[in-house]
Amino acid sequence: MKIKTFVRDCIPGPMYEKLRRLKSLLLLFVLFMKQDRRFSKNAALPGNMGQKQLETQLIFFSHQIEKGLSHSNFRPGFGSRPIYALGVCLKKWNNHGYSKDIFGFKVATSALKAYIDKHDEIGCVLPDFFNSAFDREIMKDIDASDPSFSGTSVISGSENSSSMKTYSQILNSRVSIREFEDCPVSESTIESAISLAMRAPTVCNRQPQAVRVIFNKLIIKQALTIQGGWRGYEFPPALLLVTAHNSSFNNAIERNEPYVDGGIFSMALLGALESYDLGACPLNTMFDIHQDGFTRRLLNISEEEEFIMYIAVGKKKVGVSHPRSFRKAAETVTTVIR
Ligand SMILES: Cc1cc2nc3c(=O)[nH]c(=O)nc-3n(C[C@H](O)[C@H](O)[C@H](O)COP(=O)(O)O)c2cc1C
Repeated sequence: MKIKTFVRDCIPGPMYEKLRRLKSLLLLFVLFMKQDRRFSKNAALPGNMGQKQLETQLIFFSHQIEKGLSHSNFRPGFGSRPIYALGVCLKKWNNHGYSKDIFGFKVATSALKAYIDKHDEIGCVLPDFFNSAFDREIMKDIDASDPSFSGTSVISGSENSSSMKTYSQILNSRVSIREFEDCPVSESTIESAISLAMRAPTVCNRQPQAVRVIFNKLIIKQALTIQGGWRGYEFPPALLLVTAHNSSFNNAIERNEPYVDGGIFSMALLGALESYDLGACPLNTMFDIHQDGFTRRLLNISEEEEFIMYIAVGKKKVGVSHPRSFRKAAETVTTVIR
């Protein structure tokens, strides 16, 4: 007789269930610890600054510059923090002698060039902190950078077409839009987009996703103020919150699946919103303990659900700028195993 069958036959039912639970919790603990080790050894945490982590920081701070450049109410001299941080990171990059032909380096120098060009274009002098952030070598790198790696693009009429789009047209035309027309969004269109996004696959068809559709202006304002990643923009006419239910999952090895299924669903929803010609911007729910608690209380969400992301939604406004968010080439992220 197998040990498992023997134990099950000899131990009373409730006790056996307790043992099974204990085993699951132990496995969960071990897997969390291993995940913790992988993340803490490799993420761009203080003390982990290898080339990849430095590149992560370059991309992160460059995106803040791109966002600032795309604002309709452009604020000359913005961005002392990301510019100072880019100065530090680029100096480290050059001191280590890392290649200047790496994506993050190209994006950073290109974003800084776009910053200079924008100030030139509107006849504003660069702020003092800009000039003091970079040494001569970095200034040369910025000067020699490829402008297509960063900067902003404009929402045009063709991107705004309302005709039915193919999947590749949706992927190519969708961008994060943070400035919308000042008009309400139709509830039925959002419902149709959610219906379409329900076609997203989920593990064993578990469908753990849930969506809150928020139109209440005060709640949108409070939620995005807690979220913190929407500074400097008018609040959107509608805000969606995608969550995933932990109760849809069985055991320790499924612990990350709410995020995988929730992420796939969210991408389907972004595509569906684009297919209905609505502007949208995914917004992180990377909350600390306080943000998590405030948001759960604000929206009456229990611990049973995991936050996946917010999506700001509104009618597209032709002519507004958006960060270019240039993409890596597919071959740089692909490994073929034959
Ligand atoms: C999960 C997730 C969270 C995001 N969080 C924010 C955010 O908090 N604030 C923001 O302005 N943009 C946010 N974005 C938008 C990204 O900056 C944007 O998707 C990225 O730069 C690519 O640009 P694109 O969406 O225009 O293609 C988020 C995107 C994703 C997928």
